[in-house]
Amino acid sequence: MTDRVLIFDTTLRDGEQSPGATMTHAEKLEIAAMLDDMGVDIIEAGFPIASEGDFAAVAGIAKAARNSVICGLSRANFKDIDRCWEAVKHARKPRIHTFIGTSPLHRAIPNLTMDQMAERIHDCVTHARNLCDDVQWSSMDATRTEWDFLKRTVEIAIRAGATTINIPDTVGYTAPVESADLIRRLIAECEGASEVVFATHCHNDLGMATANSLAAVEGGARQIECTINGLGERAGNTALEEVVMALKVRADIMPYHSQVDTKKIMAISRRVATVSGFPVQFNKAIVGKNAFAHESGIHQDGMLKNAETFEIMRPTDVGLTETSLVMGKHSGRAALRSKLSELGYELADNQLSDVFVRFKELADRKKEVFEEDLVALMRQNDAVE
Ligand code: KIV
Ligand code: ZN
Repeated sequence: MTDRVLIFDTTLRDGEQSPGATMTHAEKLEIAAMLDDMGVDIIEAGFPIASEGDFAAVAGIAKAARNSVICGLSRANFKDIDRCWEAVKHARKPRIHTFIGTSPLHRAIPNLTMDQMAERIHDCVTHARNLCDDVQWSSMDATRTEWDFLKRTVEIAIRAGATTINIPDTVGYTAPVESADLIRRLIAECEGASEVVFATHCHNDLGMATANSLAAVEGGARQIECTINGLGERAGNTALEEVVMALKVRADIMPYHSQVDTKKIMAISRRVATVSGFPVQFNKAIVGKNAFAHESGIHQDGMLKNAETFEIMRPTDVGLTETSLVMGKHSGRAALRSKLSELGYELADNQLSDVFVRFKELADRKKEVFEEDLVALMRQNDAVE
């Protein structure tokens, strides 16, 4: 089995389904171009039957994409699938993604028996495959679907010509050990499994989406579905930046790799935050404002001596220029000396001691001491001297 993990980004489909995260046509094209440029393997560009706007965005992205596979979502019916094909067919590498909810709760909605649903899956995947060589099947709510029926749906989809089989944890219910076991068992027991790629699509309701996606890879999945900043319905989807950086930083225990250019992560994270209107939480892994910031004296001192003391990734790996030493009440003398030196002030030890006392007084009053505050402090100091 290959060690390459395909990255399938669904920021423009599942991400955009976050209430309030709607993006304009131009913004969607811009984000798709950034995803294409950073080495994302598959871009799920939208749900073409959902609206004229979604159709136009998927078609526009399909025409513009240079490298990535362009995928559209469709429910398991011929009308959705045909509309999806009309939008993605312009792509150099098009994909149709079709799905139905297979768990008992989801089967009750269209009120289909297991046999009727099995027949629907066969017919729809066959129909999609007659239009497009690259077809992805998803058994929605797979992690709450009875094992026998899940296996049956997967085998039918493979027999009908699906090339990727997605096993969604639609409501973020599964735990990492189950996520790995489920994929491992499907690959071991489903007829035809070795002919297709298994995908993992996790939601973050219990905060386990990243762990579940990586566990699924351990179990044999070779496509991770994710979004920038973990954007997505409810608590969101697996965050692209987290799985990609985890694979890079912990290659020692997870010998798999993606082809994403990690240096482009920060730029797209900021752009998605702006266009979606969903700011990134300060302490968010990889892309949060504080992910590479240090305030406490012990940490700052360690960082100044050897960055590996408190950082497991280099900020440049994700496209930042440098670590930020935030000056505040927890900062120590070493950080103050280094910051002042950056600002052009080289102080003797006794001068630094004086300034340090005044800096601490200021830091007690202010949450963060900015460069302008330090310059003002130095000017006052010069005036006193
Ligand atoms: O979460 C989910 O199950 C989905 C499917 C449409 C793949 O987003
Ligand atoms: Zn989803």
